Amino acid sequence: MKLLVTGGAGFIGANFIHYVLGKRLEYAITALDKLTYAGNRQNLTGLPEDRFRFVEGDICDVDAVNELVSAADAIIHFAAESHVDNSLSGPEAFIDTNLTGTFRLLEAARKYNVRFHHVSTDEVYGDLPLDAPEQKFSESTAYHPSSPYSATKAGSDHLAYAWYRSFGVPITISNCSNNYGPFQHVEKFIPRAITDVLLGEKPKLYGQGEHIRDWIHAQDHADAVLRVLEKGEVGETYLVGADGEKSNKQVLESILEIMGKPHDWFQKVQDRSGHDRRYAIDASKIKQELDWQPRHDFQSGLKATIEWYQQNRHWWEPHKSDTEATYKKAG
Ligand code: NAD
Ligand code: TYD
Repeated sequence: MKLLVTGGAGFIGANFIHYVLGKRLEYAITALDKLTYAGNRQNLTGLPEDRFRFVEGDICDVDAVNELVSAADAIIHFAAESHVDNSLSGPEAFIDTNLTGTFRLLEAARKYNVRFHHVSTDEVYGDLPLDAPEQKFSESTAYHPSSPYSATKAGSDHLAYAWYRSFGVPITISNCSNNYGPFQHVEKFIPRAITDVLLGEKPKLYGQGEHIRDWIHAQDHADAVLRVLEKGEVGETYLVGADGEKSNKQVLESILEIMGKPHDWFQKVQDRSGHDRRYAIDASKIKQELDWQPRHDFQSGLKATIEWYQQNRHWWEPHKSDTEATYKKAG
């Protein structure tokens, strides 16, 4: 099985590649990644040379995409501009990569009749109220994205489905909740907070911290994507989550406790514009139809993630000041 993994040098793509090459000895992977600020070639070291190849390139580049897709059995499409805050300060790159890039890949999949798995997010469904815990997203929830990030991901989901219905491209889609784990860029909430604490800075909580995210370990997400690739039904969408709902304040308190700081050792900062209140996933379909289960519990996964950032300062430290400067510039 020859996989083309787009965005393989990013957080979840890299976790997926390590996971799959370790678990499936008959798989070979080519990673296509533009190495934007979010991509890091170091995420892909230590992989078997005979089964792994890295290509630096853009998913919007028709020739590069056609050449790689024609040699693949399946595409796993992770590449995206992925950060909500960046989409508020500069949405254009989100249009290019998330919409045009996905379109280019789908056209190549159509041309060479290649299986296509589209990796997406629960943010396409918008948000849920804070006071209705019984409500969760499911495969039948209507799309209602709020940010330029989630709107472009929603558009890319629709393109993938349209290329299946209109042209018969063998696609599947997965919409996953918030991931945490090793290799996550320091712009995102959990790594930003951990690395702040490691540098002696108080981590930042947006607004009052009452917003809820549904956390899943990136390796569980990788396992779910592999399951959908191997066992999923073409044309179907699968929601992926690990029943990991926590308010941002709860997450921050857990980080502070594990790192030996007082539970209120954080600073409240200005809230995000249009901030989605709550995400929550009903993952019954993938559990029942594809026999998938998450394996990591949040507290031990978070502890291991904190240890990873403690042990890999060389990985994140060079990017920390630029990231904070970007936040400062965006206000
Ligand atoms: P990330 O930002 O860490 O990585 C994205 C990768 O894509 C980077 O390596 C970057 O260099 C690459 N890339 C960006 N533009 C490109 C282009 N034009 N051509 C080629 N490569 C390009 O993102 P992530 O958190 O790993 O997310 C991966 C995917 O999973 C995204 O599609 C995202 O929407 C989805 N997702 C993420 C989460 C989450 O919590 N992070 C949750 C659900 C779904
Ligand atoms: P983030 O990791 O950006 O993921 P997403 O916005 O895609 O869910 O943010 C997770 C939550 O944490 C979100 O509600 C915004 C909040 N947040 C903070 O409170 N402080 C921070 O420093 C960051 C980056 C995010």
